Amino acid sequence: MSTTSIIQLANVTKRYGDFIAVNGIDLEVQEGEIFGILGPNGAGKTTTLEMIEGLRAPDSGTITVAGFDAVNQADEVRKIIGVQLQSTSLFPYLSASEIMELFGHFYGISDPKRRAVELLANVDLSSKAGNRVDQMSGGQQQRLSIALALVNSPVVSFLDEPTTGLDPHARRSLWQTVLDVRASGTTVVLTTHYMDEAESLCDRIAIMDGGRIIACDTPDALIRALPQDAVVRASTQVPVNWSQAELASLPGATNAVIDAAGTSLNIASADVQATIIALLNLAERDDIRLVDLASTSATLEDVFLALTGRSYGESEEAEEVTA
Ligand SMILES: Nc1ncnc2c1ncn2[C@@H]1O[C@H](COP(=O)(O)OP(=O)(O)OP(=O)(O)O)[C@@H](O)[C@H]1O
Ligand SMILES: [Mg+2]
Repeated sequence: MSTTSIIQLANVTKRYGDFIAVNGIDLEVQEGEIFGILGPNGAGKTTTLEMIEGLRAPDSGTITVAGFDAVNQADEVRKIIGVQLQSTSLFPYLSASEIMELFGHFYGISDPKRRAVELLANVDLSSKAGNRVDQMSGGQQQRLSIALALVNSPVVSFLDEPTTGLDPHARRSLWQTVLDVRASGTTVVLTTHYMDEAESLCDRIAIMDGGRIIACDTPDALIRALPQDAVVRASTQVPVNWSQAELASLPGATNAVIDAAGTSLNIASADVQATIIALLNLAERDDIRLVDLASTSATLEDVFLALTGRSYGESEEAEEVTA
């Protein structure tokens, strides 16, 4: 992979009134990579994306895209980027190919018809070219919106949560579309709140939380940087009265989290065998019945947990309640 950086953010901050949505972030995206911004609801992902796209001005800091300043040269930036529109904003009464051609005309490309045929084939929508948007499935609409983000052969394509709301099959098919976009030479910057998506699809990711970037690297490197090799997970039928500190001090354990209900245990471990034996002994002592005892290799979820002290699933749920 090329190591030329194509997007640079330095000390970028964005406030909405008194609220700091993006808090002094630094970021570099390399040419030709799929770069993911991962974080729970409200982390500041969309705000960051919109500032890079030149749609929102930062309160402070600098952003450059392919050498252009995103604030003072926003017109130049917009010419060389593609932005995925939310499917709801697509014209419902035009066919897929008509919308593609319309966008081709907007961008002044030489043969909009041919480009429409070519791009619809690329996102596997040739058979739906004559369908209106409201006659397409959610996954097909998302693929169409990605095709629209490619009409002007952009240097960078920005996708804001491209797979949200899709079923697992449609998500995987969309991942392939994104991989094809990268293969064609376009740099992709996407946001997601799916850990597995960031892990499987992105070359590098920035994990955002509360307006800050708390880690940025390849998924592998982020996981390898954890002190644990694996995680021991268990659930119980009745809530346990063990403390997290107690579990974290079991042999091999490096960290432990018990969920709010007290029935789901998550113990990071550098020695799985020792930790499991100790956990079983503890359960035996306190007459606790463990169900679903398992050990798995560490994942990005564990990275988030280690960095924030919160479980990712719980921060998503908490946000949904307050949203
Ligand atoms: N126009 C606005 N006015 C006031 N606050 C805003 C505005 N847009 C976003 N915010 C706030 O800024 C924070 C970051 O929002 P942003 O949309 O960037 O988050 P996000 O990471 O994209 O979240 P999601 O995963 O839900 O899309 C949120 O707390 C949000 O409520
Ligand atoms: Mg968002």
